[in-house]
Amino acid sequence: MAETMEGDRPALPMKGVHQPLREEVLNLPRVYISSHPVIQHKMTALRDKTTLPPAFYGLVKEIGTLLAYEATAKLQLEEKEIETPLQPMVGQRLAGGIGITPILRAGLGMAEGFREVISEAQIWHLGLRRDEHTLQALEYYNRLPHQVDILVAYAVDPMLATGGSAIDAINTLKKRGIKHISYVCILAAPYGLLKLTETHPDIDIYIASLDDSLNDLGYIMPGLGDAGDRQFGTF
Ligand code: PRP
Ligand code: URA
Repeated sequence: MAETMEGDRPALPMKGVHQPLREEVLNLPRVYISSHPVIQHKMTALRDKTTLPPAFYGLVKEIGTLLAYEATAKLQLEEKEIETPLQPMVGQRLAGGIGITPILRAGLGMAEGFREVISEAQIWHLGLRRDEHTLQALEYYNRLPHQVDILVAYAVDPMLATGGSAIDAINTLKKRGIKHISYVCILAAPYGLLKLTETHPDIDIYIASLDDSLNDLGYIMPGLGDAGDRQFGTF
């Protein structure tokens, strides 16, 4: 990243930093960009600056639910013997435990959406805050359990900008020895997407929409603004 401090003035950490074009990252392996029309419909309301925090939070949750359907499509199943009211049969159930890691704060709404789909999932909270001058992610909260009994983890966060927060979150999950990790976001910038795939080529990445670029401050363009502030009304 280029400039981090400019005396007392706000830094422009992405100024002059080379960014890949959207077209260059459209077909990366293990990256799934949604084409679901309902998601795209809800994205327009989400991006709209007149959408207020309660509606914004609701949309993040709903898009999280729809992305959860897409991101869970490849989950493994195992057999389970049951009895219906009429006869015994062998059904199927999800194999192994599932964890959802919301990257705080903005990942909270998405995690609620995921829980609508997989209610039995464990929720592993991870607090990361992006320093506005350096754009480095700083961990301030970590409630990942010491005993890991899950097979699959989903890190969820609406915004993949420079990729720093996502990369750190995946590093943290990998240190726990989790075999299958996916990262799920609503908006991604080409710069952060490329960095995340280069650093963690062994994870699946699910995105509702791939935007154009980052501005000099590191915000996704056209974007939706600050996803945390817009969910929780902290402007
Ligand atoms: C936002 C967002 C991501 C991060 C993305 O969180 O929710 O976690 O920035 O930026 P990056 O890809 O450049 O790391 P922020 O740090 O603003 O915290 P918040 O969720 O509490 O608003
Ligand atoms: N975090 C946000 O909330 N929005 C952006 O555009 C980039 C990072």
